[in-house]
Amino acid sequence: MNTRVLTGITTTGTPHLGNYVGAIRPAIAASEQPGVDAFFFLADYHALIKCEDPERIERSRLEIAATWLAAGLDPERVTFYRQSDLPEVTELSWILTCVTAKGLMNRAHAYKASVDQNVAQGAEPDDGVTMGLFSYPVLMAADILIFNAHKVPVGRDQVQHLEMARDIAARFNHLYGRGTDIFTLPEAVVDDSVATLPGLDGRKMSKSYNNTIPLFEGGSRALRDAVARIVTDSRGPGEAKDVDASHLYPIFRAFATAEQDAAFRAGLEGGMGWGDAKRELVELIEAAVGPMRERYQSLMARPEEVEEALQHGARKARALAAPLMESVRAAVGLRATRKAQAAAPAKKGGKGARLARFVSFRESDGSFRFRFLAADGTELLVSDGFADPKAAGAAIRQIQEGGADVVAPLGEDGYAVVAGESTLARRTGFADTASRDAAVQKFKEELQALIEAQAA
Ligand code: TRP
Repeated sequence: MNTRVLTGITTTGTPHLGNYVGAIRPAIAASEQPGVDAFFFLADYHALIKCEDPERIERSRLEIAATWLAAGLDPERVTFYRQSDLPEVTELSWILTCVTAKGLMNRAHAYKASVDQNVAQGAEPDDGVTMGLFSYPVLMAADILIFNAHKVPVGRDQVQHLEMARDIAARFNHLYGRGTDIFTLPEAVVDDSVATLPGLDGRKMSKSYNNTIPLFEGGSRALRDAVARIVTDSRGPGEAKDVDASHLYPIFRAFATAEQDAAFRAGLEGGMGWGDAKRELVELIEAAVGPMRERYQSLMARPEEVEEALQHGARKARALAAPLMESVRAAVGLRATRKAQAAAPAKKGGKGARLARFVSFRESDGSFRFRFLAADGTELLVSDGFADPKAAGAAIRQIQEGGADVVAPLGEDGYAVVAGESTLARRTGFADTASRDAAVQKFKEELQALIEAQAA
């Protein structure tokens, strides 16, 4: 299985050059690595916690989606979607809320900072604190756990949220897993090597310092104007510059090849004036950003194209989220009635085709087994014996979650469903590999149809 890497982007504000260099560009590059299934999503439910202006929310969602697409994110390759298009996320969030200790949430940095500030100002500790802010880490855990993501690249400020997600996942597994892990414990990945760009005044580039260089907004003119405002020292043309102390140089370096970097450094040390240095910087950024800006502008002019990419992503995401939610619901005792309906033979004239089903039984030796029967009653699998019904149930879940990937040939005349080292169920006795392969095909189709029906 590929490593699942998941990143959420809160949709407040408009991306600036620092976001591009520090987050967007490295994330897209990482998504192109082999062996990685990347998930990028717009965390627009999280945005609601910070922003109560519907127009800004709406605009920011579009701008951020268009920015990532324009920057080269490939919606075929990665799963790119909007959090609010996945009802499974809020559903899981509630179920996780029910296993999350309030004390754990009390310790969240963002919440504690609000309380501390209130106390310092002599206000009620929870003044202005919404349940959204308080429960923020649970929603974030749901974002991650719904795909059983392995790795989550985040900034240092989010590491605690990842620890909480692990805590919540472990508690859920402990309470409801019956010996299997329903959730994978996610890992935070903090990359300190990615550049944080200085802003116009030399502090970290950040909207809250009002020192940003725009990425696309305002066109090349806004870029030039912003670069013109980068604070420099008073050394004039002809004087050697202290390159490493300048705010301009790290921005240049973030876009330069090694040769461009060396030439720029030599130029400044040799007395290049700040005006010329800024012109070179604008040219360099423009060469990288210009073509992306054009794509961005055309996407902003045709929001339906962005919407289509997001809906495509939502479909891919839900195809994974829905079966996971099914097993979560079942684990907590909220097995959907439609699951029972799906497993039962459809009534004559009723809607929907008949589906395959799992049938559990107890062997005379006392062990617990199940059969997987095709819609027409053909036996597709018989399980090995399990010591207790819970283990048999867990094996059924594993088969459903693994989809058709779990099937493997068993010698020449059979096939088996395997999980790691162990065989869960099998079917043998085929006359030849051709009839065996035809049966594998039927098994895959029937299992897939069942999974889809349950997800629908
Ligand atoms: N809280 C993250 C941030 O502010 C955004 C986010 C929401 C996120 N859900 C996530 C990040 C899940 C990673 C995984 O940056």
